Amino acid sequence: MISILISLTYLVASVLFIFGIKGLTHPRTAVRGNLLGATGMLLAVIATLSQNQIFGAGISGITVILAGIILGSTIGAVLALKIQMTAMPEMVALLNAFGGAASALIAGAVLAEGGEPTAQTTVATVASGIIGSVTFWGSLVAFDKLKGLLLPDRPIHFPAQQALNVLLGAAALVFGFLIITDPSQLNTYGLMILVASLLGILLAIPIGGADMPVAIALLNSYSGLAAASTGFVLNNNILIITGSLVGASGLILTRIMCKAMNRSLVNVLVGAIGSDSAGAPSSDDVYAGRIKSATPEEVAILFDGARRVVIVPGYGMAVAQAQHQVRDLANLLESRGVEVEFAIHPVAGRMPGHMNVLLAEADVDYDKLKEMDTINPTFGQTDVSIVIGANDIVNPDARTNPDSPISGMPILDVDKSTSVIVIKRSLSPGFAGIPNPLFAADNTLMLFGDGKKAVLDLTTAVKENA
Ligand code: TAP
Repeated sequence: MISILISLTYLVASVLFIFGIKGLTHPRTAVRGNLLGATGMLLAVIATLSQNQIFGAGISGITVILAGIILGSTIGAVLALKIQMTAMPEMVALLNAFGGAASALIAGAVLAEGGEPTAQTTVATVASGIIGSVTFWGSLVAFDKLKGLLLPDRPIHFPAQQALNVLLGAAALVFGFLIITDPSQLNTYGLMILVASLLGILLAIPIGGADMPVAIALLNSYSGLAAASTGFVLNNNILIITGSLVGASGLILTRIMCKAMNRSLVNVLVGAIGSDSAGAPSSDDVYAGRIKSATPEEVAILFDGARRVVIVPGYGMAVAQAQHQVRDLANLLESRGVEVEFAIHPVAGRMPGHMNVLLAEADVDYDKLKEMDTINPTFGQTDVSIVIGANDIVNPDARTNPDSPISGMPILDVDKSTSVIVIKRSLSPGFAGIPNPLFAADNTLMLFGDGKKAVLDLTTAVKENA
């Protein structure tokens, strides 16, 4: 009877996870989705604890578990409250690392318990150990590169790197095979963990810092796979289900990000961006004598008689934390009868949904946030596009220059608007490291300055221009 109740609770928790993920696909339902997922997790934890308390199989020392829950929840809550939006990829990297480490440790502990493990247990233990260790060390390297602590954020390459990776992967599999044939070999498990850890480090170092969000989505998927394997080790259905959900959603996210950057996953993983900017024109060729810099007062005149304005936020808006000032400018224009919409590129900023979250924080109505495919056909009827701290995602070279390193990357067609205002501090390139002909276009005015101050000054100028 109790086991049926526990299985039913696991089923309810799984359904809550699935509806939770569904809810997270839209800003309007995201908070509810998060709550559903959290409720599912609470149910899963209660059911797992009850199962093991009642049947006495496995979990001992409820005090230790409760202490762990309190400590972990406190650290998690403090981190979540303190973390900056621009540092979210680092936070996710750390969470993935913990997930990977937990899987490898649990699998090791089950092996250390001895007894006569089944083939399912040993195979799953090996999978948890390898994937968990790769995830742990890969995620720590990702965290370090993003934070700039020990390693440089540029891709690190050395001779025979790929061959060494293949060798390490093969060695980990050989050790894994030995464990499956003789599960009493704890030392071999240690060696397997060592080799897989080295592999995790070596797989992550060639990835450039700015590419890390893609790698982190992939590592997220790995942490899910490690958890699912641990589910097979422990014979715990909910762990298998949640692990599979994380594994699959991480993979889908990785694919979406690669597609939006027009990069292959292999290209990201071997750190190829930046190494092939040969097809890009030089800054001098693109900019010399063609840049029109304007003051906020001059730019404000563009809004005279404008009926439709599109705001394009990018990474620089996140750096400048200009979202509140951007909202105020949008509200001011709307109060004058201008239709204002926000164009959201799928990889604007440095993590998926970066711009959506920032604008939601500033209470910008979700309905005004338009995805690339929806808003692109409307740029031809847009009087003014305001590009704030965005660069690569509005680079027309992606559309027109087949030799460009970003050729084929889908972009926001702001250059088709009647006028374009670009707010950034200088002519420095964006993440792709290439010049942007949009800045030199006939219909573009550059408003140089920090995003927050420039938007503030522009808003004041628009008010005074009334
Ligand atoms: P970027 O192309 O990186 O350009 C950002 C621009 O912001 C820079 O040119 C910089 O110019 C400007 N900027 C920086 N700080 C600023 C400040 N305080 N005030 C005003 N401007 C500032 O950004 P994007 O257009 O958003 O494109 C995103 C890029 O990141 C794409 O290439 C994408 O492939 C890549 N990427 C995205 C993701 C995800 S998931 N979003 C993941 C990995 C990589 P100045 O220095 O001149 O100010």
